[in-house]
Amino acid sequence: MNSEASRQVCEQCHAEITELDPAPVCPTCGGLLEIMHAERSDAKELPLRFATRRHELRGPNASGVWRYRELVMPSATDDVIVSHPEGNTPLLARDAVAKWADVERLLMKHEGHNPTGSFKDRGMTVAMTQARRVGARAVACASTGNTSASLAAYAAQAELRALVFVPVGQVALGKLTQTLAYGARTLLVRGNFDDCLALARDASASLNIQLLNSINPFRLEGQKSIVFELLDQLDWDPPDWIALPAGNLGNTSAFGKALREAKALGLIAHVPRLAAIQAAGAAPFARSFADHFAQRIRVEPETLATAIRIGAPASWDRAVRAILETNGVVTSVTDDQILEAKAVIDAAGVGCEPASAASVAGVARLRREGVIGSSERVVAVLTGHLLKDPGALVRYHQESDPAPGRANRPVEIEPRVSEVERVLAGASS
Ligand code: F0G
Repeated sequence: MNSEASRQVCEQCHAEITELDPAPVCPTCGGLLEIMHAERSDAKELPLRFATRRHELRGPNASGVWRYRELVMPSATDDVIVSHPEGNTPLLARDAVAKWADVERLLMKHEGHNPTGSFKDRGMTVAMTQARRVGARAVACASTGNTSASLAAYAAQAELRALVFVPVGQVALGKLTQTLAYGARTLLVRGNFDDCLALARDASASLNIQLLNSINPFRLEGQKSIVFELLDQLDWDPPDWIALPAGNLGNTSAFGKALREAKALGLIAHVPRLAAIQAAGAAPFARSFADHFAQRIRVEPETLATAIRIGAPASWDRAVRAILETNGVVTSVTDDQILEAKAVIDAAGVGCEPASAASVAGVARLRREGVIGSSERVVAVLTGHLLKDPGALVRYHQESDPAPGRANRPVEIEPRVSEVERVLAGASS
């Protein structure tokens, strides 16, 4: 084991296991595990080292995850890393979105630019690398779509067998087809995401398969790089807020850990506040926040934002810690608010999947309520790609009756220039 080895520490009973122990949860009490890295004496040199790596075009350092390897998986050597590469996603400013949310200094970190179309690739590159390091024979996950596509792609690259559990009839077609195309064995489970995760946990424990859902602590290490990369893009001058959609709470937990570590290393002078946004029909965490996290709540989830249609979030305790440590807030937005925010983001030429738009819809709500100030700097994370759910887009733009205010109805015409002229002149039929 080299001197950069990290440890896995139980979040509940604080028992420790080695970095290369393949146990999915604490062998003593069943609690979730957290990765603890050895202390660093070179923190001051890191920003320059990260900046230098930006010029590398090949190999792991060309990845927006592995560029931050000292903070993610310091002991990984280039030969074991399974990287597409991933990350390097843009930080976008668009006046139309800022105006709609009434936050002048709003930026969007677009994670839909990852290779399989969502932020999941950042966690997957690290978890798949770890699966290979521990000699896994197969990998598995439960998913609402994005994780399954990501796992399937990275497993194909690592040449590991892949098994995915998805809720039948509730996964966007694009994601299901991606998963099939990359070659994962796909199980359509008669139940919702929470049922899929429970089954995946049981099956992987009894069949000796490595579970790569975000309860896997290595996934969170990779997802921390969203925060590192956006801070790096801002020259380590942190925004006031970071807003993100929240479902199973893996990302909320990863963001809290990233900020805690960045502050402890002196990379940032202050910690931005997290704003975790849930869909109103799947908002157990927002309800609990309103009650000062007095209880862990479970709901029967219902929302058109399938990615965050989750009623029993797995990373609950560590997400509570993330919100408390960052003086964060948790709120919810209705499906109509999600669709309106999405239409604004899409029409600005950016585009994202429905769940991702929850972050901007949440920023608008928090601004209306005066929680976010009009001159504060906000980064909203768009977690997935516009093309994830074309079905939702067809319903919104083509089928909804009456048409929503921002619907862009296509117009059917005869193949004649006069028809084109008529449409250009503003007639719609
Ligand atoms: N946004 C997108 C696009 C997602 O796919 C997910 C989760 C989330 C937000 C929520 O993140 O669970 O870390 O709070 N999707 C999972 C999946 C559940 O299976 O792809 P979280």
